[in-house]
Parts: sequence; structure tokens; C-alpha cells
Amino acid sequence: MIEHISPASGIHGIITVPGDKSISHRYAMLAGIAAGDTKIYNYSTGADCQSTLSCMEWLGVHHEFTEEDERRVLIVHGVGTRGLQEPTQILDAGNSGSTIRMLSGILAAQPFRTDITGDASLVKRPMRRIMGPLTEMGAHIEATGEQFPPLTIHGGPLHGIDYTLPVPSAQVKSCVLLAGLYADGETVVHEPVATRDHTEIALRELGAEVRLQPRTVRIRGGAQLTAKPLAVPGDISSAAFFLVAACLVKEADLTIADVGLNPTRAALLDVLRGMGAAIKPLHIEQVNGELIGTLQIRTSHIKGGIIEGATTAALIDEIPILAVLGAISQEGILVRDAAELRVKETDRIRTIEENLRRMGITVKTTPDSIEVPGRQRFHAAALPSYGDHRIAMAFSVAALAADGASSMEEAEAASVSFPEFYKILRQISR
Ligand code: S3P
Repeated sequence: MIEHISPASGIHGIITVPGDKSISHRYAMLAGIAAGDTKIYNYSTGADCQSTLSCMEWLGVHHEFTEEDERRVLIVHGVGTRGLQEPTQILDAGNSGSTIRMLSGILAAQPFRTDITGDASLVKRPMRRIMGPLTEMGAHIEATGEQFPPLTIHGGPLHGIDYTLPVPSAQVKSCVLLAGLYADGETVVHEPVATRDHTEIALRELGAEVRLQPRTVRIRGGAQLTAKPLAVPGDISSAAFFLVAACLVKEADLTIADVGLNPTRAALLDVLRGMGAAIKPLHIEQVNGELIGTLQIRTSHIKGGIIEGATTAALIDEIPILAVLGAISQEGILVRDAAELRVKETDRIRTIEENLRRMGITVKTTPDSIEVPGRQRFHAAALPSYGDHRIAMAFSVAALAADGASSMEEAEAASVSFPEFYKILRQISR
């Protein structure tokens, strides 16, 4: 599907974005192994979170969608921590790294074998990072070329470990914590820099014994999880595209309601505000241990700056759209310490660079950095999404600032996290 995007001079409106993808995956998995039925409000509409639900179905966890006061509600019929069934077919995680990596933590503890794979992008993504700690805990896992999906997970009894993450990754941390829920004794995970902590929060919310210290999480194995209603905040990583769209145009007044503002995800807001974005968070409250609030952004002039170290890790999914922002900023944006971008849904350093060049933007890259000088003009272009949802959305936003109409090929890739993206983009652009 090709989307045509015309330049815009204004971004206006009051919108919501779909439920947070990261939190939705965790709620679906944990609800599946909790005792009782869990109602999940505002579950992500993205294809990735549907992949998690499909995998859970093949493991014997049934679900249905209903409506309550015009709100979409997902009901997950939990089977308890020991209630999963041996699947009769290969689990398909689709495009979703979160599904395969986090679910592997649960599968490693089951008294059966599971095969799990994914699409053409997922089968190229590194899995050694989860195979290492799970093997240390007692699981036996086979992979293609020793590190790529399909994975064959021979589950069994696990024991707790003390593990330091070699790369900052919330998926790996979560995988080890989920395995730790089943393991004998205590499992301890240390992380070099803080990553999103939704798993820790959700595990606690449903009754697991989790202790938090700065950059260290401990979980005691053997707890039973109990179902309770859960509400997913709007996805700040989806809101990011519209926040930056508002920074690219001449006039903006945009309100995004009910967005997740968990501090381990909100680095984007600090960075944008530090660069001059006029963003105000309003009505902040806590729901199921997660902060949720409304964001208002008005016409902004962006200075630019350097993003590095722990900040890069904290907003790794937002780098494609920040690279776009760099081109219209006054001083440009330099992102360092971003090697992890090379192993996302695409090699995002390469796909960002290629699409910026197609739009006539000067960019410099190294194996772990991207530098986009400021004060540049986007030229209209025919752009590939490379099948990567965040590349499709970031460059559709860039097209708003171009000197003519652009087109995004394979634009449907956006549906991996945000099926409503183009509808909302049209609604708010003038
Ligand atoms: C995610 C963690 C990040 C992020 C991904 C979602 C999660 O991946 O890029 O989109 O939900 O835990 P890594 O853990 O590989 O950094």
C-alpha cells in the first residue's frame, strides 16, 4: 500500500494513540499465566500485540474482545502459572522481538518443548542474548546458526541466577525475570543503564515478589499471579511521531490524551523540552503502577543537541523520528551509543540514512552513531518503509515538511504498532 503525504503548515487537534505496545505484551503474557480472568482496557491494536495473543492461544490461553461503555476490552482467561499446554504447532511471533524474547522466559520453564519463529525480519534478529541467561538457569535452547529464530525451547525446572545484562535491553531483562518467576530461589538482574521497567511493575501488580534497587531487580520464584483489571496507557513511542510533527510545522496546538509517562519511557519528553519543544504534561495520575497523563504541545523552535549514553538507551525507539527532527533543528542532532539500532526491525542506522538521503538531507553515520546537521530542507521523495513500522511513520512525518507531495511505499508496516497512524496524521495536518 502506498500512502501519499502532502506538506503541512499546521498540526492541530485533540487525539489519543493506541495502547502502549510494551505494556500490552506484558499484560497479555502475565494475564495468561495468572489465575482467573483479566480484563485489559485499551490493549494495543498493533499487529505485534496480536502476535502475543496468538502465541498464548496456542499455549492454551483463550481470549476475547468485548466492549464496555464504548471502550474496547480484552478478556484473557488465565490458566495459572502451571496451566500452559504443549503447543501442537510452531508459535509465530510475526515481526515482534518482544513476543519471542519475553515469552521465551516463560517457555523455558514449561515441562514441554516449544518451537517459536517469526517473519523474515525477526529470523535475522539476535537471540543469543536470551539464550545465554536461560541456559544458565537450566533450559536447553536450539537456534538456527546458534542465535537466530526459529528457536526450539526444551523447558524444564529452572534455578535462580545473578545476571548482568551485557547490552541494555528491557526485553532480555524481562525474559530473565519471567523465567525467574518460575525458578528456584531468587533471580537477580543487574542492568548497566536503566531500561523500561514495565515488567517489574506488572509482576508486582499481579502479586509476584519483586524488589527494586537502582539498576537491580530481584524476583523470588514460585509466586502465583492473580487476575485483576488492567488499563494500558497510550503509547508514548507512538505519540512521539505527532510530537515531532508538531515541531516540524509553522503552527501547532496538539493535545494527546492518556499517554504513558513512566519515567523509564519519558526521556523523549526531557530531550524534546531540552531542545526547545513547548510540551506540557497535564493531569498525571497512576494506574496499575504506571504514570499516565495528557500531553499538550504548541508551536516550537528546536535547537538540536547531542543524545548519548543512558539517554540513547532510554529512547532507542524514538531515534528514527529524532533523526528527522535533527534536519530542521538549528544546530542538528547527533545520536551516539546507538549500536543497538542496527539489530532492530531493520538496521535502523542504515534505513534512516538511506531515507534521509532520498529526501536530500545530509547525514553522517558510523557503526553506532547518526549525525544530522540542522537547517536543512526536506525534498519530496518516493520513500520505502523497508517493512519497518517506525521508519514508515518517521518518514511520513518528515514528508509533512517537504517541498511537495511524497509517497511512502509499504506504508502498512505502520500497523505493527499503530494501525490508526495515517488516519490520525490526516486528521491533524492542515
Ligand atoms: C522493548 C524494548 C526495546 C524496544 C522494543 C520494545 C520492550 O527493545 O526497542 O521496541 O517492550 O521491552 P530492546 O529490549 O531490544 O532494547
